[in-house]
Amino acid sequence: MSDFTSGFWPIYISLITLVSIVGTWIFLKMQTTRKLAPGEKPELIEHTWDEDLQDLNNPLPRWWLGLFYSTLVFALVYLALWPGLGNYAGLLGWTSKGEYEAEVKAAEAKFQPVYAGFMKQDIASLAANPEAHAIGRNLFLTYCSQCHGSDAAGAAGFPNLTDHDWLYGGDPDTIKATITDGRNGVMPAMGEALGSDGTKQVANYVLSLSGRPHDLALAEAGKQKFADNCAACHMPDGTGMAALGAPNLTDKVWLYGGSEAAIIETIAKGRNGVMPAAAQTLGTTSNRDAKLHLLAAYVYGLSQKQ
Ligand code: HEC
Ligand code: HEC
Repeated sequence: MSDFTSGFWPIYISLITLVSIVGTWIFLKMQTTRKLAPGEKPELIEHTWDEDLQDLNNPLPRWWLGLFYSTLVFALVYLALWPGLGNYAGLLGWTSKGEYEAEVKAAEAKFQPVYAGFMKQDIASLAANPEAHAIGRNLFLTYCSQCHGSDAAGAAGFPNLTDHDWLYGGDPDTIKATITDGRNGVMPAMGEALGSDGTKQVANYVLSLSGRPHDLALAEAGKQKFADNCAACHMPDGTGMAALGAPNLTDKVWLYGGSEAAIIETIAKGRNGVMPAAAQTLGTTSNRDAKLHLLAAYVYGLSQKQ
């Protein structure tokens, strides 16, 4: 197994490696031809540095040479046993993939019984289990924190998972379904249909729903437009619809921002929040079902704390 894309590079690399080793060997040999005859004194080479630092032509010490040769032998033995020369697999047949697979197998065997115990508990009781919480936290940091933040408090466009406000629902089964299958929130762009005046009016009506400062006349003008264009998803009273992930517009929690400008942008351009399915977040990692179960319990537990 190798990642080389052409037959040239493995040969090129092997050659450079071997030529360097042999070249070093030859060079060492050339430097050690001179021996001191009995009684012979090393000669002083012309230069003297730093006032009294002199350079003699003593032969290289044996122990040092021995060390150097042994590194060369080591290199050759190593290159014979392990992959290192181009495509050559090495006498031991070691591969990084094989080592990784062995480690994963060992980890699976180790955690299997622990995970099996967790799978027997329902999500609500698992959420109260400190050991499950600690593992869930690690899983969350690995697979989810890049979007939801390490404290799960989210960011613009990425929902806060620690509050009681849910786009899709906060009961254990819904949370698990969200993580397993993913979600796709589709808020259609309505800027063209409403026009810029119309958009501003509906935006002010939306502001009024949660008691935010707004222009009374604009909001009044937006009321009917909301009923005509928005109520189908956000409900006539603006409290949203979990089946679609259409947010409640009457509370103080905003996914994309509650300023007039942010709301106008949402209405005009639309929004399309994507929560990836477990197939993407967890991939085909080992013990996936148990991990989903633990993650659901962790997220459920976060929202039960306050
Ligand atoms: C690539 C970014 C991304 C990753 C990774 C991600 N999420 Fe999400 N998640 C989102 C977005 C965006 C949404 C909101 C979807 C929407 O707007 O409809 C969301 C929604 C959710 C919801 C629904 C919240 C609600 O209010 O109903 C839950 C629960 C959730 N994520 C949990 C997780 C968990 C657990 C993981 C880790 C396995 C994870 N997410 C990984 C982006 C991500
Ligand atoms: C087809 C259903 C649908 C319609 C029609 C619709 N919305 Fe939405 N709206 C959504 C969904 C789903 C989201 C969440 C998008 C996401 O998760 O990325 C959303 C998000 C929003 C948000 C962002 C809320 C936040 O917390 O940041 C606002 C504001 C909003 N809609 C207002 C409106 C208004 C006003 C209209 C009518 C002009 C409208 N929507 C029409 C489905 C709809």
